[in-house]
Amino acid sequence: MIVIKNERDLEAMRPACSVAAMVLSEVADFIQPGITTIELDEFAASRIRQHGAKSAFLGYKKYPCHVCISVNEQVVHGIAGPRQLKMGDIVSLDVGVIYNGFIGDNARTVAVGGCGVLAQRLMEVTERSLYLGIDQALPGNRVVDISRAIQTYIEENGFSVVREFVGHGVGRSMHEEPQIPNYVEGKSSPRLRPGMTLAIEPMVNAGKSPVKILNDGWTVVTNDGSLSAHFEHTILVTESGPEIMTCVGKLHSKLMH
Ligand code: MF3
Ligand code: CO
Repeated sequence: MIVIKNERDLEAMRPACSVAAMVLSEVADFIQPGITTIELDEFAASRIRQHGAKSAFLGYKKYPCHVCISVNEQVVHGIAGPRQLKMGDIVSLDVGVIYNGFIGDNARTVAVGGCGVLAQRLMEVTERSLYLGIDQALPGNRVVDISRAIQTYIEENGFSVVREFVGHGVGRSMHEEPQIPNYVEGKSSPRLRPGMTLAIEPMVNAGKSPVKILNDGWTVVTNDGSLSAHFEHTILVTESGPEIMTCVGKLHSKLMH
């Protein structure tokens, strides 16, 4: 069953999404060569607390960090530690928070200092594919229209879509129906309706699609060691088109700390 949010739900959920976006932007701005991923996670924890929110990830299936920090060939679900970021690395940051009883979920990949041309193109294509997917989040369309738009653009650009992890409905729970694959499956696909809130999140590899999980039980890496990028927004389907909920923007004075 796909949960449809009413106006009261949305009033509570918008600030959660706004906090998730602010924390993502603050953590991205805090990145610099030499910083360790554990320092970044601790900074994220303090920003989340400062906004009066909680990490949606910490403790989820025993995940040990406040945000996901995935470097270079790491796709998603990286585990923070003593690794120092260096110039030219690309870092995927995934921030999910709980606020007002709702979850806001968003991600983006940023370069540390400069980066190579391939890395830059990978990040641009991944981000653009997210917006092309969001453009399809219209009442009357189906989930597969989002998936198709993302997959087509990524493959036209010579990159590959990760299949083992998918986007999802989001609301009071982090993972609600429907699943939102970033590729077309030969299955029936739910119709989109106003009031659906969706986390759309293409994960894109510069090389081949297959991924594996490291011995830490979490970190997902590309099988071929190629770079990977990840962009995500929480969006709302409305009669007048998609609304991006994970936008940095002040909704309330309450959100100002
Ligand atoms: N944005 C990811 C997701 O939607 C983050 C989950 S990380 C986890 O699945 F640790 F909480 F699993
Ligand atoms: Co997500």
